[in-house]
Amino acid sequence: MKKISILSQRNNYSIVISKNLFKKKSFFYPLIYTRNIVVITDTNIARLYLKKIKSFFLKLCFKYQHIILSSGEHKKSFNTVKKIISILLKHQCNRNTILIAIGGGVIGDLSGFVASIYQRGIPIIQIPTTLLSQVDSSIGGKTGINHLFGKNMIGSFYHPIAVGIDPTFLYTLPKKEIFSGLSEVIKYGITLNLKFFYWLEKNIKKIINLETKTLQNCIYKCCKLKSEIISKDIYDLKTRMILNFGHTYGHAIENFVGYGNWSHGQAISAGMMISIYLSKYFSNIDNFTIKRIQNILIKAKLPIHGPKNMSPEDYINLIKYDKKQNDIDSGFTEIIIRSIGKSTIKKNIETSFIRSAIQQCHIQN
Ligand SMILES: NC(=O)c1ccc[n+]([C@@H]2O[C@H](COP(=O)([O-])OP(=O)(O)OC[C@H]3O[C@@H](n4cnc5c(N)ncnc54)[C@H](O)[C@@H]3O)[C@@H](O)[C@H]2O)c1
Repeated sequence: MKKISILSQRNNYSIVISKNLFKKKSFFYPLIYTRNIVVITDTNIARLYLKKIKSFFLKLCFKYQHIILSSGEHKKSFNTVKKIISILLKHQCNRNTILIAIGGGVIGDLSGFVASIYQRGIPIIQIPTTLLSQVDSSIGGKTGINHLFGKNMIGSFYHPIAVGIDPTFLYTLPKKEIFSGLSEVIKYGITLNLKFFYWLEKNIKKIINLETKTLQNCIYKCCKLKSEIISKDIYDLKTRMILNFGHTYGHAIENFVGYGNWSHGQAISAGMMISIYLSKYFSNIDNFTIKRIQNILIKAKLPIHGPKNMSPEDYINLIKYDKKQNDIDSGFTEIIIRSIGKSTIKKNIETSFIRSAIQQCHIQN
C-alpha cells in the first residue's frame, strides 16, 4: 500500500494506492462510519463489481444506496446532474451523506460536481477505475460537466475527502481505455520529468500488459507528480496550467468530432502533438525530440494527428472558448515545452503561430 498526501486549502486528504481496496476496512471505516453512503457508478462497473462493493459497504455503513448511470461522456450534462440531485432529495440525503464515485473520469467529474453543489457541499470519496482517472482525473478536485460550447465549461474546484486507487480494477478495463489513459501518463513525462519519460520509454510495454509492479509504480509516480503541482497551485492559476498541455486542442477535437467519438486520451495525444509543433517556435525543440515523443505515443496506440477533416480555422474557432484564454485580444495563452520534462506558460501568442503549428502537424498526415 502506498500513500500520498494532498494539501488543499479546504482539507488535507490522502490518495491511497492499494490492491484489493474493497477488502480494506481500514481505508473506508474511519471515513464512512455512522454515515449514509450513496455509491454513484456506471453500468459497466455495476455489472462487474457492484455485488461485491454493495456487500462490503452494507457491513460498514449506516445506510447504503446506489445510483447507476449508463456510461459515456454524454452523461456529463446538466440533465444527469438534475437526475442525481432528484434521487438524493427523494432519499432525503443530507450533509451526513457521503457520495462514493466508483468509475472513470466521467463518473468522477460528474459526481464531484454534484457533491460540490448538493446542499452547498457534501463529502465525496473518489474510487477511480480507469487508468486515466487513477493517474489524473480523480486527483486535484476539478469537477465538471460539458456544454455545447465546450468541455468542462461548468464545474467547480471541490476536493474529495479521500481517493482510493485499486490498480486491479484495470484488469477488466478494455485495452483502448488503457491506451487512452497512457496519454495523460506520457503527458507527465513530456511536461514535468525527463527521468520519468525515459522510464516510460523503457516500460511502456509492461504497463500496456498490466504487469502489476510496473503498473503500480507508474500510477504512484503520476499521482506524486500531479500532487506536487496541485499542492502549489490548487486553483489552476499558474503552475497547474502546465497539466493542461495539449488539452486546448484536445478539447477542441473532442467537441468537433462529437463527445465520446474520440476518447479523451486520443484527443489529448493529437492535441499534445500540436502543442509540440507550437513549442518549436519558442524553444529549441528539434526534430529528434519530436520523433521521440511521436514514437512513444505510437507505441501506446495513440494518434499523433487530429481528425483529417478538421481545419486550422475549426480549431481556432473552438479554442477561443478554452478556459486559459482570458485575454484573447492580446493573443493565446498556451503551454509549451522547452525540452522534454521542462514546460512553461506562454502568453500573447499570435494566431498565425497556432495556425502554422496545426498545419505542420497536419502535413505529417
Ligand atoms: N477532473 C480532471 O482533472 C480530469 C482530468 C482528465 C480527464 N478528465 C475527464 O475524464 C473523462 C474521461 O475519463 P475516462 O477516460 O476514465 O473515461 P470514462 O469514465 O468514460 O470510462 C471509460 C469506459 O470504461 C468503462 N470502465 C471504467 N472502469 C472500468 C473497469 N475497471 N472495467 C471495465 N470497464 C470500465 C466505463 O464504463 C466507460 O465505458 C473525460 O470526461 C475528461 O474530461 C477529468
